[in-house]
Amino acid sequence: MKTYLVTGGAGFIGSNYIHYMFRKYGDAIRIINVDALTYAGNLENLKGVAERENYAFIKADICDKSAIAAIFAANDIDRVVHFAAESHVDRSIKNPEVFVQTNVLGTLVMLNCAKNAWENPDGTYQQDKRFLHVSTDEVYGSLEEEGTYFYETTPYDPHSPYSASKAGSDMLVRSYMDTYRFPANITNCSNNYGPFQFPEKLIPLMINNALQGKNLPVYGDGKNVRDWLYVEDHVKAIDLVQEKGRLYETYNIGGHNEKQNIEIVKIILDTLRDMLPEQDPRRKHISYDLITYVEDRKGHDRRYAIAPDKIKAEIGWEPETRFSEGIRLTIQWYFEHEEWMKHVTSGDYQKYYEEMYQV
Ligand code: NAD
Ligand code: TYD
Repeated sequence: MKTYLVTGGAGFIGSNYIHYMFRKYGDAIRIINVDALTYAGNLENLKGVAERENYAFIKADICDKSAIAAIFAANDIDRVVHFAAESHVDRSIKNPEVFVQTNVLGTLVMLNCAKNAWENPDGTYQQDKRFLHVSTDEVYGSLEEEGTYFYETTPYDPHSPYSASKAGSDMLVRSYMDTYRFPANITNCSNNYGPFQFPEKLIPLMINNALQGKNLPVYGDGKNVRDWLYVEDHVKAIDLVQEKGRLYETYNIGGHNEKQNIEIVKIILDTLRDMLPEQDPRRKHISYDLITYVEDRKGHDRRYAIAPDKIKAEIGWEPETRFSEGIRLTIQWYFEHEEWMKHVTSGDYQKYYEEMYQV
């Protein structure tokens, strides 16, 4: 039975990954979820998993060398799937330091602890051990023109403190592969959406605000483009890369789904109107009048677009969920998880929102 060490499994993508892995492998794997439970981590995301005998949660900071080393010492870990990170660009603009701390130094701790646990005295590694570093397409910078894409060979050109810190962590993983032949892969994925996403990110923020009749803050001219991927397609790709990918390779993961932000906001409003029953009191709020153009994000990358050709050719992965379907699944999930939304938006979220949007 393989033992997985998942970092950041109480966050958005990590919790979706853990649910997916138990649906796929059932009792045939064991997962240890290590998460510091920052504002973005929430154990409610793991309801239905926590009771499993083949699952354990450990509250620890990935920067804490002795806590992470102790987990490797106590468990024969076969797979590391490293999600834990500070993940929101706007927060990185206001407070870059914690991004360097967690994303760069925390990744270094993960690499060192895995290397120490897996390396043989002669510098080779125990059989079938693999580390997957989950990263972002934002490390490649910004595309201006239509028809150009990020490839695995595109030079890194990060602009925000978030993407710079992720680029730094990717470079560390690359250096461990090159210097120590450390058994790893890197995946660089486009923007995800779906269940359990914290409402500081575009899609859940717009759904939550619209349902409350609050303004929908669109940065700049609203024409920045992101390539949106349904989160379940991403976590499937992560599992496939770890099991079928060539070791030491980087794989780009993307949705073939470029949309301007303003298009996304309008699709959300149209879909909400379509899905809410006539008599639902929230339906009366839903109108394009909520759209409010606000000051642009500093250093706002214009366009991201992934060419997921390599992962398709080598592993056979392709995005399966069309945006029109994924956005309905996502909105339905938020309809059914009002309590979850209330919990995550109480307390610190209010303060963040007021400071960020000056309301
Ligand atoms: P998230 O912010 O929802 O979750 C991050 C998780 O990491 C939280 O549970 C948090 O508690 C935990 N964490 C933060 N600092 C920690 C620390 N020091 N020690 C231990 N745990 C800590 O993020 P997400 O959107 O799920 O992203 C997960 C990963 O995927 C990140 O590495 C991110 O860069 C990458 N990624 C995200 C997207 C996206 O669209 N969200 C796209 C591509 C790549
Ligand atoms: P976000 O979800 O923060 O992801 P990222 O910055 O990592 O791509 O933002 C997606 C896009 O939406 C980005 O171009 C910024 C824009 N945006 C808004 O226009 N308004 C908002 O309130 C937020 C959070 C984002």
